[in-house]
Amino acid sequence: MREEVAKLKYMFNPRSVAIIGASRSPKKIGYEIVRNLKEYGFRGEIYPVNPQAKEILGFKCYKSVLEVPGPVDLAIISVPARIVPKVLEECGRKGVKAVAVISAGFGEIGNIELEREIVSIARKYGMRLLGPNIFGLFYAPSKLNASFGPRDVLPGNIAFISQSGALGIALMGWTILEGIGLSAIVSVGNKADVEDADLLEYFSEDPETKVILIYMEGVRNGRKFMEVAKKVTRKKPVIVIKAGRSEMGARAAASHTGALAGSDKIYDAAFKQSGVLRALNFEEAFDWARALSKLPPPKGENVVIITNGGGAGVLATDACEEHGLKLLRMTEDLMEKFKRYMPPFGSPKNPIDLTGQADENAYKGAILEALNDPRIHGIIALYCHTIITDPEALADAIIEAYNTAREKKPLVVNFVGGEECNRGMRKLEQAGIPTYPTPERAVSALATLFKWARYAGFIKAEYE
Ligand code: COA
Repeated sequence: MREEVAKLKYMFNPRSVAIIGASRSPKKIGYEIVRNLKEYGFRGEIYPVNPQAKEILGFKCYKSVLEVPGPVDLAIISVPARIVPKVLEECGRKGVKAVAVISAGFGEIGNIELEREIVSIARKYGMRLLGPNIFGLFYAPSKLNASFGPRDVLPGNIAFISQSGALGIALMGWTILEGIGLSAIVSVGNKADVEDADLLEYFSEDPETKVILIYMEGVRNGRKFMEVAKKVTRKKPVIVIKAGRSEMGARAAASHTGALAGSDKIYDAAFKQSGVLRALNFEEAFDWARALSKLPPPKGENVVIITNGGGAGVLATDACEEHGLKLLRMTEDLMEKFKRYMPPFGSPKNPIDLTGQADENAYKGAILEALNDPRIHGIIALYCHTIITDPEALADAIIEAYNTAREKKPLVVNFVGGEECNRGMRKLEQAGIPTYPTPERAVSALATLFKWARYAGFIKAEYE
């Protein structure tokens, strides 16, 4: 890891955090960050800095970072832009290792000089600088919520990097609602110093992160991004939502974060060459990220669909073809095995149709059979709700099959139905099995896992 990148450990695993511009007024950004740090349970020292205040949220307050008694690894700066150079100098003199500049009013509004000035101060003292123009950062393992976004972010294995502030904050809330766990959230804003390539390299070595997901409007140094991405994607999947696909969108991006959006075709080609998985929107990106972070990579190309509804099976089959997933051609002996879990009018071909009268035991038996057969490398289980089966009992049965199988294999599940189906799907998610509300979304997620596994060399070409 480059030395510059290794320094990011002070950003994500700081022993102490100073909040410069910590405010006494609830609702102000400098207050909410202290509150999030405290209430999310940050384990290190918290030092609010404010020349006017004695105490904030029970923490002793300091007039300047220079007055803080112990060492400071990370400083969060939330004072108006014009004061940032002054407090940054103080951070440098104090020996602060990394800073995150929340303040807006730099390159994004044409204040390029001010942005250059803060970068040069940070570099003079060897500090890494995140931002400016950001909502903060979050890192689950160190219980660090140094943001003014929602507090109760769920811990997990997806590192989410966002160039957009408001969208990033909104997605923090959305992931809580959707039950999606995150290892890190990083608002990169103007990327004046720390940029995507640094974070990619850092998170590629982070044991808590299994997938890296970036919302991007543009990169400053495309060549560097590609070089790093090429290496990282062989180790961990990288998903990018690159906004500004249209010409008008690119112009909007330029005025939003000052990003040079560049030609979308160039980005597209660069992503393909470097193994980056490009998602069209955040729904797709998080669908993929859940599968990629939870499931093991497949060892071969053969997929089976197990369903109780012919229609859902056909929709999934179409989607498999569109996404380049190969449905296993069933052999006689395999069909005989699957026939055991269906009535005589079921179909043991692929899709394996257990029929509308299938109960949880039929699913359990068929899924376990598929998990244990070495010719099958991925499974799509679909369930259309009927009153014959309780979706929660079905979820338990699927979990049991998954946990008792000889080998863990990629398995995605789609339940179609009402609230009881949602309850079943939540159970599956908690057990580490990704679920989707439509067959197509389940297929798209599994197909992306296969795509990445091919790129990273998990699927051997000679495997049939
Ligand atoms: N050191 C430390 N604290 C200082 C200070 C200094 N040198 N000078 C002033 N402060 C204190 C202030 O007294 C104030 O505390 P108080 O509320 O208890 O009086 C606190 O720092 C904040 O300063 P204030 O002038 O009230 O600024 P603010 O909170 O209204 O705004 C920003 C500060 C950074 C939030 C604002 O300038 C900004 O950039 N907002 C946009 C942020 C944003 O959108 N980022 C991108 C998100 S995606």
